[in-house]
Amino acid sequence: MSVERKLRMGMVGGGPGAFIGPVHKMAAELDGRIEFVAGAFSQSAERSRAAGKSFRIDPARAYANYAEMFEAERRRPDAIDFVVIATPNHLHLPVALASMEAGIPVMSDKPATATYEEALELEKAVAQSGLPYGLTHTYAGYGMVREARALCASGRLGTIRKVAVEYLQGWMTRPIEATGQKQAAWRADPALNGPGGCIGDIGTHAFHLLEYVGGIEVTGIHAALRSVVAGRRLDDDCNAIVRLKNGASGVLMASQVAAGEMNSLRLRIYGENGSVDWQQQDPNRLTVKWLDGPEEIYHAAAGYLGADARAVVRVPSGHPEGYIEAFAVLYREFADALVAWRAGQADPLPATLPGIRAGVRGMRFIERAIESSRVEGWVEF
Ligand SMILES: NC(=O)c1ccc[n+]([C@@H]2O[C@H](COP(=O)([O-])OP(=O)(O)OC[C@H]3O[C@@H](n4cnc5c(N)ncnc54)[C@H](O)[C@@H]3O)[C@@H](O)[C@H]2O)c1
Repeated sequence: MSVERKLRMGMVGGGPGAFIGPVHKMAAELDGRIEFVAGAFSQSAERSRAAGKSFRIDPARAYANYAEMFEAERRRPDAIDFVVIATPNHLHLPVALASMEAGIPVMSDKPATATYEEALELEKAVAQSGLPYGLTHTYAGYGMVREARALCASGRLGTIRKVAVEYLQGWMTRPIEATGQKQAAWRADPALNGPGGCIGDIGTHAFHLLEYVGGIEVTGIHAALRSVVAGRRLDDDCNAIVRLKNGASGVLMASQVAAGEMNSLRLRIYGENGSVDWQQQDPNRLTVKWLDGPEEIYHAAAGYLGADARAVVRVPSGHPEGYIEAFAVLYREFADALVAWRAGQADPLPATLPGIRAGVRGMRFIERAIESSRVEGWVEF
């Protein structure tokens, strides 16, 4: 019997002091399907080498830039099997295109690109290349999100009528981009971030979660975007009303100036018969409320959960899994899809794993929200 080898991963981004690159490393390696072997970690060759050293990878595979990495890797017999993109947003498209040009599948962090036009270009390139493309909307990896999704799809809640999704953070309440804070500096710069500030950074997560769990597309939005902090060039606060394809409506709120909030992402979906309520800071619990029955609390990994939720847990209930494990679920699904693709399967990504379609939807959402705010009225998708 042959044993499937580990897939080899390269990374772009994730240099010294980066937030999400090291998280990708931990998540990718968690389930034993992937090994992290190469990267172009920074725009500085020296810092890229330093990062390679701290990640304990072969110094010859800590490249000065991503073009060099793709060029060198494509010639190696043990070349990387895919690349993860963990850079500021303006590089998502060029790195993805360079990777696909080299014949290498892509796992990208969100948002898919910096602008909607870029997302359409990326969509074409993905289709033409035939290469797998995954998008790390992390929250899609939580077991209780999968349970909520399955409940909505089952019809037990009845027709969905109302949604409420909020993503509140407080870390940009002060103008910390002016202090050189690494994560804030590029997020507050339209050239590096794209035109949607808070709406792009965390509003897209809220939007994705809403469509992912509810299973119904948003068709219209009336959004008000503001820059609360004086001198900030991009929005840091957003309040929106949304319309869904089935006639349901709801609210979407995203803010990075909600002082005191950390990473407060919460989704509520109300059907005719009942509702689901999930909160990212208490991710192993799902509250299900019924019109004609008592409130229920579902616990992660419990035997009574549906197959989708049980498929993604690793330890028995009462042993909390969290952010890195949810991220790792997406990597596990991506790795399995890559194996299937290498065996000849076209379109191998499972429906549970966000891909290019989710990427384009997210970028459309940002573009529509900005337009709605500009015209101070409803816009269609
Ligand atoms: N899925 C999630 O939950 C999640 C969470 C945080 C961030 N993100 C996304 O991840 C991306 C990175 O965010 P972050 O907070 O880690 O930013 P960060 O500033 O902490 O890290 C970005 C890294 O990219 C590197 N970089 C910049 N230009 C480069 C180049 N030309 N070549 C190689 N590396 C380069 C920087 O040196 C830095 O190490 C963003 O797109 C963000 O939206 C996603």
